[in-house]
Amino acid sequence: MQNTVLKANNISRYYTDEKTKESFHAIEDISFSVHQGEVVSFVGPNGAGKTTLLKSISNYLVPTSGTVEIMGINLLHHPKKARQNLGVVFGGDRGFYNNASARDNLEFFARLLDVKEKDIKHNVSEALETVNLLDVADKNASTYSKGMLQRLHIARGLVNKPQILMLDEPTVGLDIESVIAIRDLVKKLADSGCGIILTSHNMNDIETLADKIFLIGGGKIHYEGSLEGVKQFAKVDNNASLADAYLAISDELKRK
Ligand SMILES: Nc1ncnc2c1ncn2[C@@H]1O[C@H](COP(=O)(O)OP(=O)(O)OP(=O)(O)O)[C@@H](O)[C@H]1O
Ligand SMILES: [Mg+2]
Repeated sequence: MQNTVLKANNISRYYTDEKTKESFHAIEDISFSVHQGEVVSFVGPNGAGKTTLLKSISNYLVPTSGTVEIMGINLLHHPKKARQNLGVVFGGDRGFYNNASARDNLEFFARLLDVKEKDIKHNVSEALETVNLLDVADKNASTYSKGMLQRLHIARGLVNKPQILMLDEPTVGLDIESVIAIRDLVKKLADSGCGIILTSHNMNDIETLADKIFLIGGGKIHYEGSLEGVKQFAKVDNNASLADAYLAISDELKRK
């Protein structure tokens, strides 16, 4: 068995509804592990709890209960140390200083992540090269297309050379060439040994990349296993696509 890079144990996160003041669970009692070089993906409808889960296991949100270990280090007890091995990519149009170059942006974020000063320039150049932005590294982030920005977000997630990278919907809103570039990049990172946690509404992303699929709905895991296993679970033909399998069970996943 390959090394475990992340272990999430019984993670729950409650939110309080501003109007009713009632609390409800966004995710409940989720446990899983990610091994070196493995792509673990979470698939489920809008509001299923995917982003909440990623935030709860990356120190963006404190889980209501549960523990997370990154390379054996408890994230809640030792957040700074644990995050040295973690890259997080939430993506989107924001997140960078528009009037600074891509390179300067990444150097800034590397410093925030406590990357050693002597390693910053090298790590940033390497991250930019990995996402194929080295030749435009000195242009301002404001001049980047959506696809380039998304790759810059991934580079930001790589500046500390993490053992595990979390990607929340990395291909959303991108043209097909950019989607394929991101898929190739994720594959390359996994092949180099990085553990990956991926969410996507694009079933082709999941079919192409995932070693293990978790079906999530109403904050709970309904199924975990292989692509073939998902098809059996959904009772569709083995020749069916993941999209077919997903559609066959989407109502069940939406139920709370
Ligand atoms: N900050 C918040 N405060 C209160 N409720 C929230 C907050 N963030 C998310 N929620 C609620 O928690 C549930 C899970 O949301 P989450 O964003 O994690 O789902 P998701 O699976 O990422 O959905 P999507 O596919 O649309 O990105 C939803 O009911 C959502 O409305
Ligand atoms: Mg989300």
